[in-house]
Amino acid sequence: MYRIGQEEIDAVARAINSKDFFKINGSGQEVLNFESEWKAYTGAEHCILMSSGFGALTSALIGLGIGPGDEVIVPAYTYIATALAVTAVGAIPVIVASDETLTIDVAEVEKKITKATKAVMPVHIQGFPCNMDALTAVAKKYGVAIVEDACQADGGSYKGKYLGTIGDAGAYSFNYYKVITAGEGGALVTDNRKIFERALIYHDASAVVFFGNQLDENSEPVFGGTEFRVSDITGAIMREQLKKLPSIIDDLRKNKFALIDLLNDKSLVAPSHDEKGDCGTTLALRFASAEKTNDFAKQCEENGLAITIPINTGKHIYTNWIQIMEKRGAIHPAMDPFKMKENEGLQMDYTMDMCPKTLDYLARTAYVAINPDWTKEELEAVAKTVNGAL
Ligand SMILES: Cc1ncc(COP(=O)(O)O)c(C=O)c1O
Repeated sequence: MYRIGQEEIDAVARAINSKDFFKINGSGQEVLNFESEWKAYTGAEHCILMSSGFGALTSALIGLGIGPGDEVIVPAYTYIATALAVTAVGAIPVIVASDETLTIDVAEVEKKITKATKAVMPVHIQGFPCNMDALTAVAKKYGVAIVEDACQADGGSYKGKYLGTIGDAGAYSFNYYKVITAGEGGALVTDNRKIFERALIYHDASAVVFFGNQLDENSEPVFGGTEFRVSDITGAIMREQLKKLPSIIDDLRKNKFALIDLLNDKSLVAPSHDEKGDCGTTLALRFASAEKTNDFAKQCEENGLAITIPINTGKHIYTNWIQIMEKRGAIHPAMDPFKMKENEGLQMDYTMDMCPKTLDYLARTAYVAINPDWTKEELEAVAKTVNGAL
């Protein structure tokens, strides 16, 4: 959460005062308007605002027709929701290493592709753009779909294209910790009409059949789904947050570059697949050893600057994905992808040490969180602490 205040409070009041804040009702149309505005901002053809990024990821997989018998490749370093979206549709997540930028290692992706692979989910973790050119080439070569997890990358880009709009579908999160937020929320984007129609039907338990006209031109048959719909209260907040997104991203990037400029040792800055497209939320520094990383963090913290070492970020690392590592995809055995007959023989031989390079990068990286609202003095104080610790 960066910038939120009176504008969002007024927008919520507007939605409530309309006394008509169901998504499909006539007056405010806050959700439908947000969807149009997000499409205009990202350039995507279709958008559905939902209750979560997890909902958007799951709906994208459903839209692609992915289910039991299918493998979906996910990176070893991502929030567990990426992998759980795969098991939620009955498919098997195949874990591959992350590269030195901490995003999915495309060479490793290619090694893991089998006949069962239906999609790969690159994750723009911390707003760091994945190597989308190389991944797109591999995906095309093998006929595999790309579902971008841009949940931590609202407003970021890769070679001038918005993250989330490069693959077949993309998912954003608007939960409290994200670049823009309604406390909870998410969005799916796609240029593919079939994915959009199926996601539309799936995401709100087919209520679109009964309410409004979003299904009027659909050709996909109605099927049972789940419930990720949001009210106009979320829509109203998100419309205000979207107005602020460009300046939040500009200021994050500006402050990140300014901090890098002030560093005594710029060689420690971790590599990136697109420095300019990076959201700017996080400066990643890479050290020669875990000990040096821990020493750096300790010294910064003694001087009041909080540092995150990503190896300590719990459910963002595959070794802590208990449900996946212990293969419990659902409470009912017949609903558990790890026990389904269709999934027998798929790649689910997870071990703690399967991605040693990723664990090493994570242990040798220190994150400095960037604040878009730093004054010049505050930024210089951060640089002084970082340089002192270096
Ligand atoms: C990389 C990533 N993917 C997916 C999600 C799921 O988003 P949500 O919490 O909105 O369901 C998150 C949220 O933390 C995330 O960081």
